[in-house]
This record gives sequence, C-alpha cells and structure tokens, in this order.
Amino acid sequence: MPIHTTEQGWVLETHAAGYALGVNRAGLLAHRYWGVRLLYPDDYPAAPDPTGWASFNGAAQRTPEEYPGYNDLKYIEPCLKVTFADGVRDVWLRVEGADVRDSDTQLDIHLRDQHYPFRVTLHYRVHEPYDLIERWVTIANEDNAPMTLERAWSAQWHLPCDERGAGYRLSHLSGRWLDEWQLRREPLARGVTRLESRRLTTSHHHNPWFAIDRGTSEEDHGEVWFGALAWSGNWALAAEVTDFGSTRVSLGLNDWDFAWRLDPGQTFTTPHSLAGYTADGFTGASQRLHDYIRDQVLPHGRALHKVLYNSWEATSFDVDEAAQGALAARAAALGVELFVMDDGWFHGRDDDTAGLGDWSPDARKFPHGLAPLIARINELGMDFGLWVEPEMVNTDSDLYRAHPDWVIHFPTRPRTEARHQLILNLARPDVQDYLITALDRLLAENNIAFIKWDMNRNVSEPGWPDAPGDPRELWVRYVEGLYRVWGTLRERHPAVVFQSCSGGGGRADLAILRLADQVWVSDNTAPAARLPMQEGYSQLFPACTMEAWVTDMGPTYPPLSFRFHVSMCGVLGVGADLLRWSDAERAEATELIALYKRIRPIVQRGDQYRLRSPRAHAYSAV
Ligand code: DGJ
Repeated sequence: MPIHTTEQGWVLETHAAGYALGVNRAGLLAHRYWGVRLLYPDDYPAAPDPTGWASFNGAAQRTPEEYPGYNDLKYIEPCLKVTFADGVRDVWLRVEGADVRDSDTQLDIHLRDQHYPFRVTLHYRVHEPYDLIERWVTIANEDNAPMTLERAWSAQWHLPCDERGAGYRLSHLSGRWLDEWQLRREPLARGVTRLESRRLTTSHHHNPWFAIDRGTSEEDHGEVWFGALAWSGNWALAAEVTDFGSTRVSLGLNDWDFAWRLDPGQTFTTPHSLAGYTADGFTGASQRLHDYIRDQVLPHGRALHKVLYNSWEATSFDVDEAAQGALAARAAALGVELFVMDDGWFHGRDDDTAGLGDWSPDARKFPHGLAPLIARINELGMDFGLWVEPEMVNTDSDLYRAHPDWVIHFPTRPRTEARHQLILNLARPDVQDYLITALDRLLAENNIAFIKWDMNRNVSEPGWPDAPGDPRELWVRYVEGLYRVWGTLRERHPAVVFQSCSGGGGRADLAILRLADQVWVSDNTAPAARLPMQEGYSQLFPACTMEAWVTDMGPTYPPLSFRFHVSMCGVLGVGADLLRWSDAERAEATELIALYKRIRPIVQRGDQYRLRSPRAHAYSAV
C-alpha cells in the first residue's frame, strides 16, 4: 500500500523511497522525512516542532512546512502569496481534513484559511514503481469577492535537515541557443539560488529540473533527490538553504509579473511537479524519470521512432516539389523511413520575412498542393512530415493584415520583432480557434504522419489589450491556450507524431512531452558540441525523445561514422544535403542506418547508462 495514515500523519511509499508529512504541535503541516524507505510506517520521524529564534524568527521560520503561505515571522520562500479583497496579504492555512483516493495512490490534504473562506488542496500522487511523487495544488476562492494570486507554486520539496548546513550540491541545466543542456554541478550556497524562465516558454537557458546530492554521489551510486516541473511557460525554481540548516527546493509558475484574479467560486490549479529519491546515483535518478516518461507521459509511449530525413540544412527556405522529390529519392535509398519538409513550403514564404500565419501550400512552389510530393514520398516507402510554427506571425502575411490585434503587444509601444516575427496571443480563444481550424485542415487534407512544431522567438511587450481578467494572466493563459490547440489536434489526429522544437531545445519539459513524442534538442548539429548537450538532456529525458541528425555542419566535418554514432544515441535522423554526398558516403550511411535499425529497440527502450562524461573526457560513451 503506497499511502499510510498513522497517528503521526501520512507516509507515502514507493518501491525504494519513503516520504512523510504530518501536523506539528503548532498546527503547521510539516515535512517529516524523504529518503530510503523504512521498514514500518511508524518508523518515520514525527513532525518537527521547533521554537522561534529570539524575537527575529518565529517557529514557522524553522519549520519545514509542506506548503508555506506568506505570513508570520517567516522569511523563507513561501509557496503561496495572495491579496484578499479587503487588501489583507497574509494567509493562515490549517489542515481541515485529508482523503486517500485512487486505490491508495493519491493523498489530498485540505487546508483552510483561518479567517477567509479560502481553501487550498495539496495533491500527492505516488508513482510506486518509479520512486516518484507527483504534487500539485488546487486553490479555491469560496468568498463572495475576488482575490488575487501573486504566487502559486506547485510544491516545496525538503531535503534532510542538517544544522551544519549539509553541504548539498545542485545539478542543473543551463545554456543558450546553439549551446543548450549544459550540465552544471555546483555547491548549493546558503540563501536562495533561483533558476527561471521569463521568456513565455521553457527556454534554452535553464530547464525546470534539479538533482541534489551531498557532493559525493556518482553516476552509479549515492543518494540523489531530483525533480522537475511539468510546465512549458514561465517557471521558477528556488533552491534555498536557510541559516537553520534546512534545504528545500520550490518549483512552480514564475511569480515575476504574474497575477491571477480568482473570482468567487473559481478554482486555480497549478502545474504538476514530480520528484524522486534514489540511492542509485545520477544514473538511477535519470532511469526513473526515463521510465516514467516512456510509460506515463509520451503520447506514443514506447513505440519505436522512425529514421527521418529533414530538409532544413540542405535546402533552407528553397523548397519545391522537384527539389524535395530529389532529396527524398536519395533518402529512401539510404533506408530513411520518414521524410520531413522543413520551413519554406507555405504561402509567401521565401525567407524569414514573410508568410508565418498563412498555413496553406505556396502556389508557386506547390501548384497542385502537397499531395503530389506526399504521394511520391509514400511511393518511395516513406512517411511524410511537415514543419509548422503556429504561434508566430510575420507582419507580411495575410493573417496579420486581417488581424493585427491578435498579437501580444501593448498599444502604446512598438511591437519588437525578432526574426521578423511577432507572437500570436494564444491566450485568446479566437486565436486558438483559428489555429485549430487551419492546422486541422492541413492534417485532414494531407497524409501527414509527423509534425515538427517550432517556436523561434521569445516574448517582448507582454501586453494583452482587452484581457477579460488581469492582463498578467497572459503568462499562464497563453500556455493553456497552446495546450488546448495542440491537444485538440492530437485528439483529432492521434496517429501523428509531433516534435517540439523552439529554435532547437527551447521548449522541452514534462508537459510538452504529453503532446510531443520528440524534441529537437539543438540547432547545433556539430557532433563534438552535441555530446555534452546529449549528456545534459539525458539527465531527465529518455533517448527515444531525442531527435539527432547527421549533418555537414561545421567548417570541417568529422568522419561520417563519428557523426552517425553520436546521432545514434537518440532517434537517428539525417539532415545533410544528400545530393552532395559521394557514392562512398551514401554506402556507408546505408550500412549505419541498417545498424541503427537493429540496435534501435535498445537505444530507444533500454536502460541508459552514462559510461564516460564528455565533461571529463574528449568523448563520451553511453
Ligand atoms: C529553427 C529550427 O530549430 C530549425 O531546425 C529549422 O526548423 C528552422 N527553425 C526553420 O525556420
């Protein structure tokens, strides 16, 4: 039984880990334990019951609260900050009950404010075989006046307390375009270490993932506490080491520029956070996430992915029926199974200055639509895939000329373009409906097996004129709109495989992987640069989600076999100009693709072991 209710509170148990919480004598819902599973539920320690520290810190400052609100003589990072209708900015939550549901796999703890009719439910779901616990929060305004949420995080995860300051080490991922997924492993300093995105999307710069150890764990042994947030918009991670030896990691929606008006009778549900404990080192942590993602998250689960060809690095925007047909013939001869036509195929698109928003084939390049090219590709024995960038619009497009008000903007400010494009306001239901109709038509009228969904800029001037609520709800409603558009297309076209791309790896997280089976990890396809990125990406994501092309990128090309071997660590693809490859290169590629198909079930479905780190050696091995 994964959840036990005892006199001391609740114990959540997975295959190898235990997590305990309970109410202390001061009435606070406190964290009790997170680590190796103990023999009996009564073996877990009682809720800590600290006192204050002179007149400067209340008892709550020293209590590891499961979901602290902003109140009291307490200065740690709270999870919840609200303003009630009367201007009060102080929350006093107390436990009023709990339910265990779903065959003992979910615990709901109900908290209630001491004065206002305001309820918060903490949800805990136990994923026993993966040693993972999932947490999220529902916030309900039962008053007859609106209130404002200013911070509503998903979870605070507490590590074992050590009065001396534990000496924990934080592993996280940082980077930038062309250089994503760099694994950093740094001592966790006292105070707050904050990682975040303010970019409207997950971002190339940081990822909402952490792993914490005591500074001595290795790939194959040692305790690791790890977690992630399932959210594709602005997020925040605050790792805090207090002066009382408490270490905790909070994850949730970024509260920077965030506000949410919660009207009477309404509820707000946070994104979900997932975390786990293992004594099996960093590989153990990764394998638990990989298995969970393959079994519980990905739309097509453990289905094997095809070897694809992508046209971008060969033809850029210069796509047409003849040029793509010639590449397709070469690709099929190598053993490629899926041919993806990238950017450049739609109305008015000759370069990056025009066309985004008008999702019909360009009549000059495809006078008879996409059907003849798709038929040719299918005759060659391959599936057909297509690139789109639905959230974006060029000012030089029919869509923008018809609806200049549909973009994110402030009326009195310039609309800053990046790559000549603006962002459609997907918080608006009419914009969502337009995209659903346009993309649904594209998928219904053409035999498309694969969609690469791109997003090539970050936000500026985050305005939402005429927003029905607080315009700062944009940050959340945009992402919910994105999920609605993408989710509706998935429901209507369940066989289609989607890939999440944002100028490379700008949008990869546990939430987007409910919609997309794959991620385009980086626009940098040089294999030596790819190795550390692949190591970083593998910390949380399984190889079956990692699309990797063999290309001719770089001033000098390493041997073809090396380029293939690097890409064969994930879902193999080819992105080079095949019309330039020699007979010998094509023969070698044919053999390597055949080899990949033989080992693909192990690469995509197997347990991954990182044997050599590219941070310590010239090359890596997995
Ligand atoms: C950025 C992507 O990462 C590339 O692979 C390619 O699809 C271009 N966009 C097309 O504009």
